[in-house]
Amino acid sequence: MKMNFDLAPDRRGTDSVKWDNVAAEFGMTPGDDILPMWVADMDFACAPELMEAVRSAFTPGVLGYRNLSSRFHEAIAGWMQKRHGLTVPADSILPLPGVIPGISAAISAFTQPGDGVIIQPPVYPPFMGVTRNMGRVVLENTLIEHEADGILTYEIDFDGLRALAARPDARLMVLCSPHNPLGRVWSREELTEICRICAENDVYLVSDEIHSDIILGGAQFTPILTAAADCGITSRICQLGSPSKSFNTAGTHVAYTIVPDARERSAISRVFGSMHIPADTFISTEVVTAAYGSAGYYPDELSAYLTENMDFFVDRLRAALPGIRLTRPQATYLLWADFRGCGFPAEKVMRLLCDEARVAPDPGEWFAADRKGCLRINVAMPHHMLEEAADRIIRTLRAATEKENHQ
Ligand SMILES: Cc1ncc(COP(=O)(O)O)c(C=O)c1O
Repeated sequence: MKMNFDLAPDRRGTDSVKWDNVAAEFGMTPGDDILPMWVADMDFACAPELMEAVRSAFTPGVLGYRNLSSRFHEAIAGWMQKRHGLTVPADSILPLPGVIPGISAAISAFTQPGDGVIIQPPVYPPFMGVTRNMGRVVLENTLIEHEADGILTYEIDFDGLRALAARPDARLMVLCSPHNPLGRVWSREELTEICRICAENDVYLVSDEIHSDIILGGAQFTPILTAAADCGITSRICQLGSPSKSFNTAGTHVAYTIVPDARERSAISRVFGSMHIPADTFISTEVVTAAYGSAGYYPDELSAYLTENMDFFVDRLRAALPGIRLTRPQATYLLWADFRGCGFPAEKVMRLLCDEARVAPDPGEWFAADRKGCLRINVAMPHHMLEEAADRIIRTLRAATEKENHQ
């Protein structure tokens, strides 16, 4: 292992969203004892090769306008080939200032106000947020839940998806692949079926693959463009990615989309162009070339560490909290836990954890309105911090259950 993920950089007082906003975000008394487990951002250092590459962008001592290098496109095409077996022409890649801005641009380019956008909740909240902010209508195809021995798994409701896609107002689908917050890695067959349903109904398919490089315990990730190729689809589809989750570079706003169809690429570019918003940043080339080049070892080392973290955390909570139901994610560092059968008022779980355990995950209702009493928990932290978090969560929730039993 090149990286030592047991060491956490101290991020308090560094204008960190995760650490410095947590108390205000969740109405907690400020204090150094808070353990943030919200927002998809990791408490691990970046690869030294990546930091060095970013520093090199500044060495001439000039901060003037910069071109995006062709090395940006080549690095992404190379990574897609090497890591995911996907061949993409370099000129089909567009830079983005973020994956969500890319999704917004696609919604703007390919739908009209009042049109329907299909999403699959519980899902990353900005999918709903940007759709509504742009005057489009959210069409929900809720994922089907299964449980075996306290472990939750999810599958796509294909009948529901077919019915929604057939609606005349359905114009676009935003797929989260792998899925945040439920940690599913969709199979090639599932992805092919989604491609077919969208194509048959003329629904534009946008696949957010920001989490595709963190795969836990050996699942097999398939890019949407691979599945699309399986069924001969080359238009009305785009794939979005970024090194931001798997290399911990979210603050750099470096992302990209791969759009096979040239006219659709122009339509997305025009959305940024119409507002004179640059889609690349000063360090886009360095972040991407280093991540997908000399720092390319990082996601596999990270995934191995995170698999251990996840197994530890899931097993510890399951053993200690009867009635808890949770995922064992195939991807991401985000766990989904349902506390509604634990014997205490689950609607209080967020307050109990924030105020008593001093641990701050994301509330479930952010991801689907009917999931109050569920939480998304970020385990991307050194193991000793995760042990401390697990102990605090268990102590607090056991006490809440005991209190309930004595009432
Ligand atoms: C599924 C998903 N998409 C997009 C984002 C955010 O991407 P960006 O910051 O590049 O807009 C996140 C961040 O957690 C995410 O989980």
